[in-house]
Amino acid sequence: MATILIIDDNPTNRDTYDDILTSDGHSCLTASSGEEGLAKLTAAIVDVVLCDLKLPNLDGLGTMELAHEKHPGLPWVLITGHGNEETAVSAIKQGAFNYLTKPVDLSRLRATLESATRLASTTRENQALRKELGFDEALDRIIGTSAAIKNVKAMIRQVASADTTVLIEGESGTGKELIADAVHALSKRSSLPYIKINTAAIPHDLIESELFGHEKGSFTGAIQQKKGKFEACDNGSLFLDEIGEMPLDAQVKLLRVLQDGRFHRVGGTQELNTDVRLICATNRNLKEEVLENNFRMDLYYRLNVITIRVPPLRERREDIPVLTTFFIDRFNNKHGGNKTASDELLQVVRRQDWHGNVRELENTLEKCYILSLGSVIGAEHITSDNWEAPTSPTAVPSAHPQVPQASPASQDPATNSLNDIQTLIGLPLDEVERRHILATLDHCNGNKSKAARLLQIGLKTLYRKLEKYGTDAG
Ligand SMILES: Nc1ncnc2c1ncn2[C@@H]1O[C@H](COP(=O)(O)OP(=O)(O)OP(=O)(O)O)[C@@H](O)[C@H]1O
Ligand SMILES: [Mg+2]
Repeated sequence: MATILIIDDNPTNRDTYDDILTSDGHSCLTASSGEEGLAKLTAAIVDVVLCDLKLPNLDGLGTMELAHEKHPGLPWVLITGHGNEETAVSAIKQGAFNYLTKPVDLSRLRATLESATRLASTTRENQALRKELGFDEALDRIIGTSAAIKNVKAMIRQVASADTTVLIEGESGTGKELIADAVHALSKRSSLPYIKINTAAIPHDLIESELFGHEKGSFTGAIQQKKGKFEACDNGSLFLDEIGEMPLDAQVKLLRVLQDGRFHRVGGTQELNTDVRLICATNRNLKEEVLENNFRMDLYYRLNVITIRVPPLRERREDIPVLTTFFIDRFNNKHGGNKTASDELLQVVRRQDWHGNVRELENTLEKCYILSLGSVIGAEHITSDNWEAPTSPTAVPSAHPQVPQASPASQDPATNSLNDIQTLIGLPLDEVERRHILATLDHCNGNKSKAARLLQIGLKTLYRKLEKYGTDAG
């Protein structure tokens, strides 16, 4: 029999499902919100999730998206209200196992859960077998057949279990974060906390507090004591992205914690201990930063114990067609299509230099995917390095053509959006981002999953940003 997690904010429904499934011999866990459900998933091994679509705050779809990051393939059965079938169908495209419509029919509930449980056990057996054969989910996500990628994967396997600091160097968009994820996933800390922070996204004066926490009253705005990531991540791995952006003061504290695992919260006197494995990434040349006195030499040597260098895509061109096919498959799943790449497209993409590396390739291909009409994607929508709007030479190039553009009712969308943008001139980039995110959230009536989808960022990233802004919404 299976372990089933029931997520529903309505206590009567929750208890009813719990009673029925328990009397069928399953063991049930219950949660009244998406957040509580996610916490239960980290604490217990669950076979199937039965989840209401409508939940306060984080909805059923958003919960599934976050859960699948940590537990890919976990069968998710959504319960939807009458008239929500369209959402339910798109949920299936996003990875839900199935959906049930309210009022839930008992025999359908039992049959659906039974097949979901069967899937869970097959998936587990496959995973065990794949592990035995030396495959690993996290490594499989790194696509590429070049010698360079094979070396990177071999290195990940080798260093993951070593528990030392790992530095990942490579140009922007080369896949450093995927590599960091794999190092953690293959390490013996894999079931323990894994926290990511992007140094470049945090204002300089808040970095120390973010990493090491602060005591109440230690600076204006420190209204209560806060734990930093080194405390939250005890026994786990911390991914410090864009480490090259770290201010020198914070570098001193980081060095200390790397040397002896000790630190103080900002404004605190108590010495605290932590056991954290650090994984760092940078798209700068840290050695040059040391020579220019932007990065401490002693810290550089501490971080540089094991370095994984990811070559740019133009130095491993054989990965380009493989990645292209992979991304088109992914877009087929995402958009529900069945398109393939033409030979011409494969040749053209292989010849380009892709200075934005895999990220640029992925974004460009998605534009081609959306713009191509037939089932074979040609090369006609690929321009040189940059995206250019094919018809309007005055339009501001859009990085995200699939996002709804300015309404056709406005006279001149390009001028309108330029005027809008001009009102932001003079504001720091961080503030512009904050306003944009909060306005999008407002537009989505506070629905974070929807806002994250519109912003084309992960839900986790949205949460992180809201937390950074200190809004109630976070
Ligand atoms: N080898 C790969 N296989 C599949 N997807 C990849 C690969 N490399 C990168 N990607 C994808 O490209 C995008 C960029 O990758 P990632 O964020 O890991 O890059 P990065 O090196 O951390 O970039 P930056 O320095 O700008 O933060 C992501 O969507 C990632 O999933
Ligand atoms: Mg990155």
